[in-house]
Amino acid sequence: MLNTNRNLLFKAIILALCTISFVHVFLFPLYELKNRRGAARTFSDLEQSLCMSNIKKRGVWRSGRCPQYGVVSVVQGGRLGNQMWEYASVWALARRTGLEPYVPRCIRTKLDQVFEHLTVSTFEEIGHCPMQMEHFVRSLDAWNFTNQSIILPRYYVQPELVLTWVQDIVQEFTMRKKLVARSQEVLQAVVKATEKEYPKNITPTFVGVHVRRTDYIGYLRIKHHVGPAHRRFFLAAMKIFEEKYEGVVFVVVSDDPVWCWKTFLAKNNAYVVGWHQKNSPALDMAILAACNHTIYDYGTFGEWGAILAGGDTIYYNVSSHSSAKLGQLMANWHTI
Ligand SMILES: *[C@@H]1O[C@H](CO)[C@@H](O)[C@H](O)[C@H]1NC(C)=O
Ligand SMILES: *[C@@H]1O[C@H](CO)[C@@H](O)[C@H](O)[C@H]1NC(C)=O
Ligand SMILES: *[C@@H]1O[C@H](CO)[C@@H](O)[C@H](O)[C@H]1NC(C)=O
Ligand SMILES: *[C@@H]1O[C@H](CO)[C@@H](O)[C@H](O)[C@H]1NC(C)=O
Repeated sequence: MLNTNRNLLFKAIILALCTISFVHVFLFPLYELKNRRGAARTFSDLEQSLCMSNIKKRGVWRSGRCPQYGVVSVVQGGRLGNQMWEYASVWALARRTGLEPYVPRCIRTKLDQVFEHLTVSTFEEIGHCPMQMEHFVRSLDAWNFTNQSIILPRYYVQPELVLTWVQDIVQEFTMRKKLVARSQEVLQAVVKATEKEYPKNITPTFVGVHVRRTDYIGYLRIKHHVGPAHRRFFLAAMKIFEEKYEGVVFVVVSDDPVWCWKTFLAKNNAYVVGWHQKNSPALDMAILAACNHTIYDYGTFGEWGAILAGGDTIYYNVSSHSSAKLGQLMANWHTI
């Protein structure tokens, strides 16, 4: 009896260990590759290990030459805003170091739906090339050999690195024409809905407002020990724009449009986009980019909306957030 129990327990432990190691391999494949030191793996294997889900194996039409020195790439993590930082970091780090930039196909596929002509390639053409896994580091600081590759961790945000070439990265993130057209239609609809608010002969000044709520509120509490931006913050920021520009129209984009609708009900020149039917994140990004100026609270989505809009930006003061760093680097960004 005791023996059977022990046997069962043993089996249960083995099963648990198998499950754990499966999860481990699935979630942290990069460590798995790293642990097999010396084994020559290909860039194709590496590419898969950088993605959150399985990418389809594809026949390679053209095999390029293999990289002579190291490459720079990144692990996929997060949604659109995060993946824009991940992509932009690879792009910028390649400029800084001279290493060849590659992004995993999963990131490129996601961003290709939004942007027209991204220049950083996937691993496709070098997929067959061997990759010495012991020759990689995870940051520029640790990199001291041109033979080494740099594989940045997921959620990588490094404003100093990317914003050195802010005009160029804005160019790199040129929106797809269809999204540009759709976003201009949205702005025209907003003008129509708010045109009673200012004289006819004034061209409207569009201020994109990104309000991040839902799951981010918990994240802020845990990670940054602050509460969400209050209605007061948005109204104060709006007032600053109204005092500076004529015919100001606020185009509000949010993951919680109902909260925004209630919160800005009294503001006749504010329009909540997608409060009855949610837009895609791609269209929301295109709308923020099409606006002249930006108000946002926090989060990578709002950061990119503001960078692409390129005008004045007012953001919420969370001193430990990446936005604080961004704000110091960008001349026309302010916090209140
Ligand atoms: C590269 O840097 C690491 C740690 O920063 C150090 O241990 C190593 O010796 C350095 N290698 C060379 C060749 O400088
Ligand atoms: C760096 O690459 C060159 C050429 O591929 C090779 O000769 C050299 O041994 C490499 N150095 C290291 C430290 O891997
Ligand atoms: C403001 O944005 C609108 C909509 O994208 C654009 O048509 C207009 O040229 C912009 N105004 C300025 C001064 O950039
Ligand atoms: C932002 O908040 C910190 C405290 O959290 C404060 O020290 C700092 O002065 C604030 N910055 C601005 C620009 O208001």
